[in-house]
Amino acid sequence: MDELISHYDDNIVISTSRLTKAFGNLVAVNDLHLQVMRGDVFGFLGPNGSGKTTTIRMLLGLIRPTAGRAVIFGMDNADQLPAILQRVGAIVETPVFYPYLSGKDNLHVVAAASGMLQGKASNRRVEEVLDIVELRRHANLAFRKYSLGMKQRLGVGAALLADPELVLLDEPTNGLDPAGVFEIRQLIQRLATLGKTIFISSHILYEIQQVCNRVAILQKGNLIKQGAVSELLQQNEQIVIRLNTVEETHQALSILQHAREEGQHWISGAHVDTDKQNKPVIRVDASRTRSAELNALLAEHRLFAAEIRPQEGNLEEIFLELTAPVTPPGAERPGMAALARETTAIFDEQGIP
Ligand SMILES: Nc1ncnc2c1ncn2[C@@H]1O[C@H](COP(=O)(O)OP(=O)(O)OP(=O)(O)O)[C@@H](O)[C@H]1O
Ligand SMILES: [Mg+2]
Repeated sequence: MDELISHYDDNIVISTSRLTKAFGNLVAVNDLHLQVMRGDVFGFLGPNGSGKTTTIRMLLGLIRPTAGRAVIFGMDNADQLPAILQRVGAIVETPVFYPYLSGKDNLHVVAAASGMLQGKASNRRVEEVLDIVELRRHANLAFRKYSLGMKQRLGVGAALLADPELVLLDEPTNGLDPAGVFEIRQLIQRLATLGKTIFISSHILYEIQQVCNRVAILQKGNLIKQGAVSELLQQNEQIVIRLNTVEETHQALSILQHAREEGQHWISGAHVDTDKQNKPVIRVDASRTRSAELNALLAEHRLFAAEIRPQEGNLEEIFLELTAPVTPPGAERPGMAALARETTAIFDEQGIP
């Protein structure tokens, strides 16, 4: 039993409880419970000002929480910070490098300043890190000539010098063009294959969706969701159906409504929308794996869809749904019958037969 407990603890890399930070009257982080497991690529998401950097600063002991605590590698960071920091690499805010020194020499400066690596060990590690962050080709170029993406990667490289188990990156893709974002994503994947636990913050949810296995979503300092990306995305999946006529669209909507009432609970909702080409479609809230069933259901009623397209969930939409203002009573989202009525209006406006 004891062994089980210690094994369990060993797998939790970061655990915060009731972590709170107030700046005067402003509660920047409120009652935060986070759990990051070993090997996670953990996305810490939220819009500007939601408390991401403040949380990371508390994790690193750069600021003291107003209340609550953070436990990293099983140690409370209020009293075992040095032992924790030996196993953590981080970039918070843009790291400062010497502009006239090369990327490689800058890494040597950081290694020497950390005092952890010396002589040959230091040289070897600098070379390894240059490989990991793919800067070997530019190793001897002066830092001031680096592109923003290269600068960011050098920052990550500096954080990796001491071969940390946990890497904390605060918005590493900030300000990068799509190619730079792609390179950072690849770098994060590489770090994950090296067995690192990665905690990465971003306000661009789409970027995170592609590299993280778990996420926490913050809004105004409050945690509004935490969980596996695959599960979150699954809840948000849809099947998009396009029919040939308005009449068929009406029929399809009422068939779906009926099926749901009759116990087909895999249909959690349906409404009319327009697709990217501005064509009216029915969006069915259901798992992507149900496409064939949906097709069969309509076909039973002699309705043959012009198009059926399973659609992946996306974190951006989940975030918007979670943060949407509460609708006042009497102004709920219209039911399917009302939507069927709306359909006519939408189709009429667009002059679709
Ligand atoms: N030292 C400070 N003193 C006063 N208020 C602060 C301080 N640091 C942060 N704040 C405030 O706390 C809130 C959270 O800020 P924080 O920097 O943690 O957000 P963030 O999620 O990192 O935002 P961004 O995406 O813009 O980096 C903001 O309202 C910010 O103005
Ligand atoms: Mg920030």
